[in-house]
Amino acid sequence: MKIIGTGSALPKEIVTNDMLAGFLDTSDAWITTRTGIRTRHLQSHETLRDLALSAAQAALVSSGVQAEDIDYLICSNVANSYVSPSLGSILLGPLGCCCPTFDLNGACAGLVYSLDIADSFLKTGKARKILIVAAEEPSRFCNWHERETSVLFGDGASALVVTEGESFVDFRLTGDTHTDILYYKRSMEATPYDRVEEKTTPLVMNGREVFRLAVNSCIEDIDTLLERNGKTPDDIELFLVHQANLRIIDCIREHLEQPKEKFPTNLQNYGNTSSASIGILIDEMSRAGELKDGATLVLSAFGGGFVTGAALLKWSQINY
Ligand code: ACO
Repeated sequence: MKIIGTGSALPKEIVTNDMLAGFLDTSDAWITTRTGIRTRHLQSHETLRDLALSAAQAALVSSGVQAEDIDYLICSNVANSYVSPSLGSILLGPLGCCCPTFDLNGACAGLVYSLDIADSFLKTGKARKILIVAAEEPSRFCNWHERETSVLFGDGASALVVTEGESFVDFRLTGDTHTDILYYKRSMEATPYDRVEEKTTPLVMNGREVFRLAVNSCIEDIDTLLERNGKTPDDIELFLVHQANLRIIDCIREHLEQPKEKFPTNLQNYGNTSSASIGILIDEMSRAGELKDGATLVLSAFGGGFVTGAALLKWSQINY
């Protein structure tokens, strides 16, 4: 499998830490030192559908593939206002695609999960050209009266077009049950048989425990991927890690004894955009010519569950 097109889209509204400090008991200093985040883009007039559509259209244009030639649309999304139909189904018509589609909830590791599935579909010949869209609005999961979670997230979408090729070398995905440390619970309808009153619970997070699991699991994924492919960290040009927190990324980097330049970040500008984050980074860097042809890359993500996903690949340059 190889990536032949990339796209991303962000809401227009840029919210600074100082703006949040205007209505939350927080400060630019606290957010910056604990997370590295300075601004985030939050949906105001756009919908998630708008962002997903722009990212997907940009990815299609850069790939040179026509919408009607896409064989599968895989959509990574944790939650949006529609439970059904899927976000993928909502996108098909406006994109001009007529292919099977489904949404996948791999939390913040959803893009890597989608790539792993796409790789299998391509290898078995189920599809030849696949559009992956990761679109997330985590700002809509948070309680905006609580400073613990709302300052961490941003909204956004990214998209990749993939086809047959030898770029991706290996994947490592893991999963485990840790429901209590990171969850967002939505209520369902009462029935005559099950009258339990359920309330929506906005995102609940045990930050320290998520931090610990994130660092340990990313390190384990990367060490395992490198070891089983006969590589050392020095053989990797760039590590593209889920953009949740600069301190998490620094801990992983220090364990691997690598310089800062090999761990590019954009979370300073966008906050944690969940499964869209690695795709936004890939799109920005690829368009800026910062992903060199033949460069060996590692993608590594973690998210609620707890789930993780990492991939080893050789980048094939895209001409925009
Ligand atoms: N502004 C000011 N103070 C705050 C804020 C805030 N926004 N949020 C929490 N605090 C306070 C707490 O109330 C607590 O106060 P107390 O000591 O009086 O009880 C104190 O700050 C906690 O401070 P620290 O323990 O120093 O915080 P820590 O260093 O653990 O940083 C953070 C907190 C940033 C949440 C960190 O634990 C973290 O990044 N965890 C991982 C979060 C993450 O990545 N989540 C998403 C991953 S999965 C996914 O992407 C969906």
